[in-house]
Amino acid sequence: MKVVASVKEMQEIALKLRREGKNVGFVPTMGYLHAGHLSLVKNARAECDVVVMSIFVNPLQFGPQEDFAVYPRALERDLELARAEGVAYVFAPAEEEMYPEGYCTHVEVTGPLTEKMCGRSRPGHFRGVTTVVLKLFQVVQPVRAYFGQKDAQQALVIKKMCRDLNVPVEIVTCPIVREGDGLALSSRNVYLSASEREAALALPRALEAGRQLVAKGEHDPQKVRAKILAVLTDSPLVEVDYVEVCDGQNLSDLDQLAGPVLLAAAVRVGKTRLIDNIYLEVHHVPNHVEI
Ligand code: PAF
Repeated sequence: MKVVASVKEMQEIALKLRREGKNVGFVPTMGYLHAGHLSLVKNARAECDVVVMSIFVNPLQFGPQEDFAVYPRALERDLELARAEGVAYVFAPAEEEMYPEGYCTHVEVTGPLTEKMCGRSRPGHFRGVTTVVLKLFQVVQPVRAYFGQKDAQQALVIKKMCRDLNVPVEIVTCPIVREGDGLALSSRNVYLSASEREAALALPRALEAGRQLVAKGEHDPQKVRAKILAVLTDSPLVEVDYVEVCDGQNLSDLDQLAGPVLLAAAVRVGKTRLIDNIYLEVHHVPNHVEI
């Protein structure tokens, strides 16, 4: 496995791979790797000739009051994990390499996809994500790029960017990886104290309660949202940021739950912000059929 810090060198490698007819699968990360990231690598390895991973804590996607300075970093450990998983190249640039002095170009998906949920709570976040992801695509030249379903809104925003800007990269969304007790894996879980870690379980529990309500036949999004909210507010250490029950493809509001549906929530437990979601395909069966 080769570790590359220079944009020029990584781009030269990527263009050479492309000339040789090799399909690059790309796994962009901010490091502090966990089994969720490694599942993206496994998918990329199964579908592509060469896997490139990036490790870059992108300052553009953090707000001024957010955790950029303390975001967990463990490059040597990450490199070991990436190597063991069969990654061929790790692109790990310094901040000045990605954003040299005078850098001033940004990519922004506007409109409903970025206006709600994390877009509302974290102004500028998705602009930072799309800017770095498009830059990384230019450097790594992938055929496919792999993202986790835990960041469901991020994956939809990146897909929209690729559609709108004709970026020839297939965006693959991979299932959420959870701990045995249901907590979705996140690099930020490391911030949680033992009691906060326990309280954080309200998040998957609340979404699961919402899913069960839908499975029992509830098609009113407001009732499902209220159920999720009730479980979350029952837990004293949990502060709710948002709960959304919406269209799973474009995040629009729904009158009735049918087709692709996303149950999504963000909470704060102490200083830690956590997000999670469940994606459902709802088949609407009317209660009374007039014959
Ligand atoms: O999901 C992440 O880790 C980041 O948002 C990404 C896609 C690597 C961009 O910095």
